[in-house]
Amino acid sequence: MILIIDFGSQFNQLIARRVREHSVYCVIEPPSVSVESIRALKPEGIILSGGPASIYDENSPRVNPAIFEMGIPVLGICYGMQFMVDTFGGSVKKSEKREYGFATLNIRSREDLFAGLEDSTCWMSHGDSIDTLPEGFVSMADTANTPVAACHFPEKKFYGVQFHPEVEHTKEGRKIIDNFLSICQCSRNWTMASFAKETIEDIKKTVGGQKVVLGLSGGVDSSVAAVLIHKAIGDQLTCIFVDNGLLRKNEAKTLEEVLTRNLQMNIRFVDARERFLSALAGVTDPETKRKIIGNLFIEIFDAEAGKIEGAAFLGQGTLYPDVIESRSAFGGPSAVIKSHHNVGGLPETMNLKLLEPLQYLFKDEVRILGKELGLSDEMVWRQPFPGPGLGIRILGEITEERLNILKEADAILLEEVKAEGIYKDLWQSFVVLLPVRTVGVMGDHRTYEFTCVIRAVNSKDAMTADWARLPHEFLARVSSRIINEVRGINRVAYDISSKPPATIEWE
Ligand code: XMP
Repeated sequence: MILIIDFGSQFNQLIARRVREHSVYCVIEPPSVSVESIRALKPEGIILSGGPASIYDENSPRVNPAIFEMGIPVLGICYGMQFMVDTFGGSVKKSEKREYGFATLNIRSREDLFAGLEDSTCWMSHGDSIDTLPEGFVSMADTANTPVAACHFPEKKFYGVQFHPEVEHTKEGRKIIDNFLSICQCSRNWTMASFAKETIEDIKKTVGGQKVVLGLSGGVDSSVAAVLIHKAIGDQLTCIFVDNGLLRKNEAKTLEEVLTRNLQMNIRFVDARERFLSALAGVTDPETKRKIIGNLFIEIFDAEAGKIEGAAFLGQGTLYPDVIESRSAFGGPSAVIKSHHNVGGLPETMNLKLLEPLQYLFKDEVRILGKELGLSDEMVWRQPFPGPGLGIRILGEITEERLNILKEADAILLEEVKAEGIYKDLWQSFVVLLPVRTVGVMGDHRTYEFTCVIRAVNSKDAMTADWARLPHEFLARVSSRIINEVRGINRVAYDISSKPPATIEWE
């Protein structure tokens, strides 16, 4: 396994992804990680990530230099390389020219780390660069602005690169990571099948004969977590699904079919549709809606979980990015785990321990795991769906009538998106119902009905998003079907705003 020390780079999760793509397991730890914890991990190599600090800043992050005495290869990336050079007595200086963007790498030494590489483009993002190399280190490559774009200390197997091999823009980046893993002699046996097997054993050991309760949201993460835990402990797991009536058409039914009937899991369905509707009656403010929906969910979930006698664990579908992001910057070794936004706090008297079997996985790995565990493409490729559901896609007051209208229109869009084969390509695609009526004409009759909006976006992480350039013919088909098939809508608009400055959801 590979240990990645996180010096705060925005790319550090990408480093982890690249390592895992080569079937090697890795973990990310803050620089404050103790030497004992590192030894316990038994890493075969260490990668020092980049970061925003300058090595000469007063509080620049540093990891215990004992890592260089463990007899294992180390690869420093950007700040990580500067830290290594500084530790061994070399010097770093502010570059005259800040280098940001593409650069051409001129390789001088085509061995070990750069074995089999061509001179090609790499991605730079740095203000500081290496001035003098410490004794034993040799430069391996340069670029027009950076004399030491890469260096190594061959006897010790220490390597440094000023550019970022983990980003797509570095053409030979994958090969560099692959070469480093070969130098570390890593066993390449990290697969989802092996992860599933080991995790199931772990869960069995941790839980023993006790009971686990888990809140199902209908999303990918909680479903995969539930199936995994169920494989380990069977009926000792009870899932709770609160039907708030704000899910897409047929979602609750599908979930019931797949998990209860096909997988024979023990699920308590709580029909809370009426309670949510009456709590939301007359409410139009988006944040108030969110609060009401969130609080009521917690209340109902807690009451239901409280009925499960002897529950000792709360299962959650927390993912690795949540774990990493919830650590304080350069914080201590004990990570604070953020609780999943779809599952609220439980009564303290229940004193449940967290069971988070996906906490070392990235989203795409969870999808592969889901498939490995026998879930369908439909289950594992779900687009993200917000906790407050359709509640924030009905602008203005939420009524049963409006909910039904939106569900029908949204189902038509979803059906057409899937038929067009673009469901997986779109980050999200859904319909928003506006509290605006417009005049239309149908046959010989005047109509005065609601307007809905189609929203479809491309995105990698929801932080930014671009409106999808859907074909006009496709939009025409959806619009015509919605207006003809859904009573209550006589006008369809298409949202052509990107995030920022708009957001993905309308509320
Ligand atoms: P925005 O609208 O802020 O959405 O661009 C970004 C992503 O977050 C989802 N979203 C939510 N998810 N509770 C959630 O669990 C919420 O209140 C919420 N609001 C937005 C949204 O669907 C998108 O994926």
